[in-house]
Amino acid sequence: MQRVAIVDPTDSSRESLRTLLLGVDFVWLEAECTRYEYFFDVIQQSMPDLAVVSLDADKGKALQMIGELSIEHPKLPILTISQDHQALLQSLQKGAKYFLTHPVGLEDMLAALRRAVGESGSASADQPSGGMPSRNQAASNIIAVLGSRGGVGTTSIAVNLAATIAASLPDEPGSGVAVVDLDLALGDADFAIEVNGMENISIADLARNIERLDMNFLRRALAKHEASRLAILRHPLEIQDVGVLHEGHIERIVNLLRVSYSHLVLDLSKSVLPTDLMALRLADTVLLTAQLEVSSLRNVVRLLHYLGQEPGLTDKVKILLNRVGSDAVEEGISLKKAEEVIGKPIFWQIPNDPKAVIAARVAGEPLVRHSPKSRAQQALFGLAQALAGRTAPPEPAKSKAAWSLFGKK
Ligand SMILES: Nc1ncnc2c1ncn2[C@@H]1O[C@H](COP(=O)(O)OP(=O)(O)OP(=O)(O)O)[C@@H](O)[C@H]1O
Ligand SMILES: [Mg+2]
Repeated sequence: MQRVAIVDPTDSSRESLRTLLLGVDFVWLEAECTRYEYFFDVIQQSMPDLAVVSLDADKGKALQMIGELSIEHPKLPILTISQDHQALLQSLQKGAKYFLTHPVGLEDMLAALRRAVGESGSASADQPSGGMPSRNQAASNIIAVLGSRGGVGTTSIAVNLAATIAASLPDEPGSGVAVVDLDLALGDADFAIEVNGMENISIADLARNIERLDMNFLRRALAKHEASRLAILRHPLEIQDVGVLHEGHIERIVNLLRVSYSHLVLDLSKSVLPTDLMALRLADTVLLTAQLEVSSLRNVVRLLHYLGQEPGLTDKVKILLNRVGSDAVEEGISLKKAEEVIGKPIFWQIPNDPKAVIAARVAGEPLVRHSPKSRAQQALFGLAQALAGRTAPPEPAKSKAAWSLFGKK
């Protein structure tokens, strides 16, 4: 937890600051002070990880106190809040490190806290009791799953990979996995496992209320699969609401969610919409799901070509083959040939395992709970490990180029 002390002599703004901070699960409100002249002692006694100073009640006193505080406690990060830009600037000159303009929105506060925590986290790495849960010191792990055509298993992999990661995480605040269904029109992530406690809130409601979001609403918006500790942000319930969402919403929603969840898995649509592109930009890893058949592999090539136009996207793409070994799906294309055509190694393979996959789906459970020993789940477990850098992916198959597979590009 991040222990925070605040000072603000004005009751109303102190109340709203307190409410804002209480909604942040990695913050512990260590001390609350109503007088600038007492705050120095409060800091001496509570030794917080971060001091938040609201300047506007008496800028002169506040700035003087910040000057003294930063001389006495040079390592204590100070965040100042004011509606006066000049005062904010002066506070930085006196030793404050971060500032926010009043009135402060949740998103800005979270971003500032994250920054403050990230920076002080590395500075105090030798103090295990201070700072944030470890996941916040590392980059959040955002995995986007993109299909190369309909029905290749994008949603099955997104949900089951998310559940596999969730099963491996310690049960502590701040570590958790959320699936975000970005197949906005026809998504079915909430079907792949049976979620309960639905309040009929979807990503469209978050987008509509984006300016007024608080942590409570955000958490309520996610449907939960308690047994697997998985949360799902559902696609809009009405198809006509798809138009409510634009890429800016996706950016803000994903950035807010990454504060509460250590891992996000994004189930993308196949339409390569601006919302999908934003998800691809935000992701740390893109799993491009394919099958060993011509139309799927051809789309992999087309997608890689398209994504290659924006710097940084294709480097994040890892090719995932699903339903490997299925006579019904595959068209006699060898792995080696697929890799040559794609021009990238196959990162991971999930075997065809209809019995386990369908049975888990019917039971409304993820594979990791319903069929933990199944071949599909074993492969998903390996995938989660490889993504976490715990095991190396297999060596790519090697042979000469065979771009003629599709006849033409
Ligand atoms: N490894 C697997 N073995 C056997 N069946 C699988 C496997 N992966 C997925 N399936 C099956 O393939 C079908 C399509 O899966 P899924 O809905 O996950 O694909 P999708 O790419 O998300 O589809 P859509 O294009 O509708 O979004 C489902 O019936 C699912 O049970
Ligand atoms: Mg799907």
